[in-house]
Amino acid sequence: MHNKNFVKPALGLVLFAVLAMPAFADSNSNQGNLRNMLKSVNSHGIDASFNTAGAIDLDNAFFKSLGSNGRTCSTCHEPSEGWTITPKGVQARFEKSQGQHPLFRLNDGANSPNASVSTVEERRTAYSMLLRKANLRVGIGVPAGAEFKLIEVDDPYGHASATELSLFRRPLPSTNLKFLSSVMWDGRETTLMPGSGYCIFGTSTCYASVSFDLATQANNATRGHAEALETLTAEQRNEIMTFESGLFTAQIHSTEAGNLITHGGRGGPMQLSKQGYYFGINDTVAGDYRTRASFNPKVMSLYDAWNRFNSAVSSQADELENSAGSDSARGAVARGQALFNSKPIRISNVKGLNDELNMSTIAGTCTTCHNTPNSGNHSVPMALDIGISDEARRTPDMPLYTLQNNMTGETIKTTDPGRALITGKWKDVGRFKGPVLRSVASRPPYFHDGSAPDLNAVVDFYNDRFGIGLTELEKADLVAFLAAL
Ligand code: HEC
Ligand code: HEC
Repeated sequence: MHNKNFVKPALGLVLFAVLAMPAFADSNSNQGNLRNMLKSVNSHGIDASFNTAGAIDLDNAFFKSLGSNGRTCSTCHEPSEGWTITPKGVQARFEKSQGQHPLFRLNDGANSPNASVSTVEERRTAYSMLLRKANLRVGIGVPAGAEFKLIEVDDPYGHASATELSLFRRPLPSTNLKFLSSVMWDGRETTLMPGSGYCIFGTSTCYASVSFDLATQANNATRGHAEALETLTAEQRNEIMTFESGLFTAQIHSTEAGNLITHGGRGGPMQLSKQGYYFGINDTVAGDYRTRASFNPKVMSLYDAWNRFNSAVSSQADELENSAGSDSARGAVARGQALFNSKPIRISNVKGLNDELNMSTIAGTCTTCHNTPNSGNHSVPMALDIGISDEARRTPDMPLYTLQNNMTGETIKTTDPGRALITGKWKDVGRFKGPVLRSVASRPPYFHDGSAPDLNAVVDFYNDRFGIGLTELEKADLVAFLAAL
């Protein structure tokens, strides 16, 4: 059990109550519900996954070994770990298999592909980044014609070079893909198509559709992570792409606030599957691409109906912690949503925003960057550098790279150059996409490098980075809201 507050009988009751909810009545039968509403416990409650195809088909190619090393897509996109992997799950697999499970493969599971892995203790050392932060090693070299060169490498695992930098990154969830505008942390699976497709407003910078990208990505993942010798058939690619594109995951039950679809709450994956999305919806810079309405900072509205609990204070009855949740806990979620939408943040020194718009300070909110309605990613590709891979945040387990600008001689030290390794552009160093925020409670640790162990650490990061001045109550409210996504 992930959470000590959840005693077994209470959980049984919760699941029963959730299944009996009228909101699920549009699925055919109870059995259909069970096959479709796949639930998992996390440290903030329970999440659920729903597939618009009518069931979560465990016979899909997504769950099959298609390569040569025993891995499937679900090896790193595990349904019960938010469709990514968590340290808890990785550690359990390691202990059970003595580090022999297909997740533990040298090519991208180990800190270095040359590590010794003949004994359990050697494997424990070789796979330490995977065990501690559920990070994979993504290997990408400095591209030809880059505006910079790699002049120094400090890799604790002795492998990285300009040919292949070792980048320790979290697998992104393979769910809620409907809302993606770019694929991968650095957008490398997002295809530029000059002049046609999905274009940035008023420019000829255009991209292929995300479903095209996902089909290509499924193939690359099989060739890379699963070390397949042959490409996937068009049929296999399509099967995987259709499966993952129909998949929605969201928190359905909060330990404190109870069922997230009662009292007018609109959490959970079924509601999410109906959430509208298109490329450029509610764009922060140009306004909505279709309606031409200007950017609306009120991005999240799931818990509007809970505003009536805003000032509910914790009563003695609340202390009894029943699975129905308390009004004060629902109030915290509603206050957190309001903070996410409207707490002023003075955004400065963010590459991809302040430089592109030529504004040294932008008066924004969390939603300036997390602008897609009720999803929280960015609705156009907009990789940003909020400082996660800065030298100042480097921990001894991470490599540190020194890059030098060919023209100016300027240097930057970073643990991951991000988008710059794709474009070769100096201005792109340290830039990553903001991921979809739904179901974020299911997948600690956070940020591309897993450097924030929990949601409190995420909120603390923003409070320090932008000097927001959040009170302890505001921090707790923001966490309560994020945990209900
Ligand atoms: C060995 C682990 C591993 C396996 C196996 C794996 N992935 Fe991934 N996946 C990752 C990592 C790590 C990332 C993020 C990498 C990055 O952004 O640099 C990722 C990213 C993704 C994304 C991007 C999501 C987004 O928000 O951009 C999708 C989609 C995805 N994987 C689907 C798949 C599919 C489909 C398969 C099977 C064909 C698969 N993955 C197999 C580790 C894995
Ligand atoms: C200036 C843009 C910007 C602002 C403002 C911003 N974010 Fe982010 N957010 C990002 C980017 C970019 C990432 C991914 C960064 C990375 O991993 O390198 C991110 C990542 C996150 C994540 C981690 C998701 C995951 O799966 O790891 C959470 C949670 C989050 N933001 C919440 C918030 C909250 C809450 C606020 C307001 C207090 C906020 N963000 C304000 C751009 C922003």
